[in-house]
Amino acid sequence: MNSPFAIVIFGATGDLAQNKLIPALFSLFKQSLLPEDFFVVGFSRRDYSDDEFRDHFGELLEKPEWSDFSKHLYYQNGDFTKEKGYLELIKKLNSFDKQMGACITRFFYLATPPENYETILNFLSSTKLSEGCGQESNKWTRVIIEKPFGKDLETAIALDEKLSKIFEEKQIFRVDHYLGKETLQNMLAFRFANGIFEPTWNKEYIDHVQITLSEKNGVEKRGKFFDGVGMLRDVGQNHLMQLIAAVIMGQPKSFTKEDLRDARANAIKAINCIEPSEVSKYVVRGQYEGYREEKDVLPNSNTETFTAFKFNTNSEKLEGIPFYVRAGKKMPKDEVTISIVFIQTCHILFKEYGCPEVGNVLTIKIQPDEGIYLRVIAKKPGSKLALETVDMHFTYEESFKTKGIEAYEKVLIDIFSGDQMLFSRSDELASSWKFITKILEGWASESESGLKHYKSETWGPKEADELIEKDGRKWL
Ligand code: BG6
Repeated sequence: MNSPFAIVIFGATGDLAQNKLIPALFSLFKQSLLPEDFFVVGFSRRDYSDDEFRDHFGELLEKPEWSDFSKHLYYQNGDFTKEKGYLELIKKLNSFDKQMGACITRFFYLATPPENYETILNFLSSTKLSEGCGQESNKWTRVIIEKPFGKDLETAIALDEKLSKIFEEKQIFRVDHYLGKETLQNMLAFRFANGIFEPTWNKEYIDHVQITLSEKNGVEKRGKFFDGVGMLRDVGQNHLMQLIAAVIMGQPKSFTKEDLRDARANAIKAINCIEPSEVSKYVVRGQYEGYREEKDVLPNSNTETFTAFKFNTNSEKLEGIPFYVRAGKKMPKDEVTISIVFIQTCHILFKEYGCPEVGNVLTIKIQPDEGIYLRVIAKKPGSKLALETVDMHFTYEESFKTKGIEAYEKVLIDIFSGDQMLFSRSDELASSWKFITKILEGWASESESGLKHYKSETWGPKEADELIEKDGRKWL
């Protein structure tokens, strides 16, 4: 990254900017991964000066190098719904161009609640901000859209149509930061660079797949945003779908942007939808006790903070294999895992020596303790023959002495270098929204009793256990 750029963060005083974007930019700066000249413009309603904006970032202010970094921060006060702020922004961006003596690339990062996207896009277009400066027109602008991308299939399609009227596909970056996670990217290397896993990655060998995304925290300060969205839209439509895709995906034709996006899109398309009439059978909707008393949450809110569902796929290799997926807030720990549970085929030779109920399990730990764990059966030490399961593992920390690059750093690096490989394409989004929208439709026709309450620090409502246990299996 040598070319100067300007990045405008809409919603710059919000959680995402504060907790992820500015820290990630700061970290890239410290690693000398940003060009010498770059301009970060925060655009928000608050009446801040540049200095007040620089002082907004709490504990970062204490860090060495912050004062050097913060010189790159600027602020533009503006109401998203009024032209004034956008016109002033143009002047600010033009002054950067003037300083650089060239039209520098402009990135517009929409880190606001999703209801503002349309308004902001309209103003980017009507004020011609979307076109950038200079004769080469919109070649020098990019737009970055955070999730949730729409509220359902229909609104996602409408948002995409709006975007494509203003920007070309190569200018659009639809963020799902899970795609930037080291461990998720490693799944491709792990599956396809090693010769020994793919031959067993099919219905002959795999019994079922479990995916868990559990978070210890509740909604914290994000009640207003979360209450209007819920867990299924917040992490289901995006992060969970990408975890699922990494399991179903066939080998990409090459590691080029479009081949990889094709492989992901085909994987998501292969997920069999749960019809609205089947939702009560295959989907659990939970809310932690005390959620309705959280700040900015409606006192009678029926928003789910937990969901679990079971589905299967029509992908050739994994056809019919059950996938059990759960995600929730206020769970016992922070953990994201994908587990491939293999069919237990303890050989007849060992039957009388106590074959463990569950045999081989391959667990990809997305976080924490990023790594891969393989549960195998071993002989217990001693004079008698007895069997027990043990774990073999690889962790990033042990092998590479690092956890890898933070997801938002990867997201930003790719945006700045114009690499769209780890950003969602419209067809991926359409397939995932199709799946999620059917569940939402099922929930809409359910009575309130469909929402199950669960205690904090538990693994969700008991119905989530029943979902898997009625098939004679257990959450790991
Ligand atoms: C965000 C969701 O996209 O992902 C949050 O909006 C969730 O609700 C977060 O907590 C989880 O991301 P990570 O990287 O902390 O696992």
